[in-house]
Amino acid sequence: MIKVLLFSFTLFLQLSLLADTLIIAHRGASKQAPENTLPAFELAWKQGADAIEADFRMTKDGHVVCIHDANTKKTADKNLIIAKSTLSELKKLDFGLFKGKQFKGTRIPTIEEVFASIPKGKKIFIEIKSGPETVQPLLKAIKQSSLQPEQIAIIGFKEKILLDIKKHAPHIYTSWLCSLKKDKRGKMKPSLESIMKTIKACQIDGFSSSYNQLNQEIIQTLQKQGTDCHVWTINDTRHAKKFVAWKINSITTDLPEKIKVVLAQDSKD
Ligand code: G3P
Ligand code: CA
Repeated sequence: MIKVLLFSFTLFLQLSLLADTLIIAHRGASKQAPENTLPAFELAWKQGADAIEADFRMTKDGHVVCIHDANTKKTADKNLIIAKSTLSELKKLDFGLFKGKQFKGTRIPTIEEVFASIPKGKKIFIEIKSGPETVQPLLKAIKQSSLQPEQIAIIGFKEKILLDIKKHAPHIYTSWLCSLKKDKRGKMKPSLESIMKTIKACQIDGFSSSYNQLNQEIIQTLQKQGTDCHVWTINDTRHAKKFVAWKINSITTDLPEKIKVVLAQDSKD
């Protein structure tokens, strides 16, 4: 009897640990579908992702579109610079063919189209790739959407833009993407102390870094002061398990199904 109770309690603890870790589909289910497109986001939802991560840039005529790079060279059938093109010019390009014939005809989505594709209860991590000019159009699109504040996180490498978001929309969750480097002496740059200063100064809610730079000490220190910790981009189950054990708040992955299945299985073993 005691054994059964102990087993049930351990299982409960393991499941609740996993439930706390969001699985975020990086640019959608981008290993199997064209990144930052509606088919990649639809596949992510089918695969059980808790959230999608998507990159956004401004077009010449003031639309916010979903794309990672500053130009379309890698993902479309013609090379255009996003900031120098209109939405209608970009909409003529094919953003599916680079991933396979089955995706032929896929168009670049606007932020409004991406928002409309998010199911109730699921989340979006919006990465701002262009400059501060994105803030107002982005906030307008959020206001006009039917998304609830708890479904939205705004992320980016430029902390000043995140502060600008907070000034205009304090209820919106922000997370700072930060690349951690080591100097010649092996000291981390920026230091943990300076990270904490930036988080405070820019009223940031979450800290996010690459899986090969983030460690348990950073996670514990930041979480202790009330800052969430997120990690990108993990496609390997060994790394995913390690970060779940470290109580990471989310894992961003190109393979949401694989990571979800393995973590769920692991929590049963
Ligand atoms: O979620 C963070 C991650 O997406 C940042 O890197 O280059 O894939 O946008 P990148
Ligand atoms: Ca991104």
